[in-house]
Amino acid sequence: MSERYAVIGHPVAHSKSPFIHAEFARATGQDIEYRRIEAPLDGFRHAVDEFRAAGGRGLNVTLPFKSEAFRYCGEPTERARLAEAVNTLDFRAPVFGDNTDGIGLVRDLTLNLHFDVRSTRALLMGAGGAAQGVIGALREAGVAQLVVVNRTVAKAQALVARFPRIRACGYDELGDEAFGLIINATSAGLHEAAPPLPQAAFARAALAYDMVYGRDTPFLAAARAAGVRTSDGLGMLVEQAAESFFVWRGVRPETAPVLRKLRGG
Ligand code: ATR
Repeated sequence: MSERYAVIGHPVAHSKSPFIHAEFARATGQDIEYRRIEAPLDGFRHAVDEFRAAGGRGLNVTLPFKSEAFRYCGEPTERARLAEAVNTLDFRAPVFGDNTDGIGLVRDLTLNLHFDVRSTRALLMGAGGAAQGVIGALREAGVAQLVVVNRTVAKAQALVARFPRIRACGYDELGDEAFGLIINATSAGLHEAAPPLPQAAFARAALAYDMVYGRDTPFLAAARAAGVRTSDGLGMLVEQAAESFFVWRGVRPETAPVLRKLRGG
């Protein structure tokens, strides 16, 4: 019988994860079943327990449950501990929790977009869950300097407190500073808004990246208008899924063919 996995979130109806994991399983010859679970906002733990009791082997966790998943697991990896968020649960004992979002972003930047993060001065916009998940991996990848900017400055300061040598500030403090890489980890694009980024930030940018996928956000449009190369977060989605697949199955699937299919190529 095939081993059972799922993505759990709220909402989860439009998740591309079942498609991605089905493609990975087919390509690697792994016999798995992967579905969606929409848990009520107050019902994460119950839904996970139920899935485990029915023989489920592992879960991908998406919004808004990543912090709860961190608290659920008995054994978080170092990168999950740093992010205080888990997007991958594996029901071995004790329950193993990982966070593959950060490595997913770094792999998309380096492998798919061929962007050298090592010599880059990077700006990360946002201090919510999406930003929290990727700071550790960006640092580990050797980003030369990382600045976290957020509308609510106190949130950015609280976020960087556990990472040495990362600066936190508000948008108006950026002045005419320029960055090689600008990453949008805010939810502004989902509301058809752009963070209040000074235009000067784009002056020497080689890449503007939005973690949102499937839509052209006002941030990406502004970057393009400034002549900056852009990318949405679809590659990050596929790369984090591949890393989860590896955690569960010990096999690393190829991501490029799946990304091509999702882009309709
Ligand atoms: P997520 O878990 O998706 O990151 P979140 O925790 O609600 O969601 O965080 C959303 C992030 O987007 C926050 O950093 C938020 O800024 P504040 O902390 O100041 O609220 C940011 N954000 C949302 N809309 C924004 C906008 N229009 N301009 C700038 N930042 C915005």
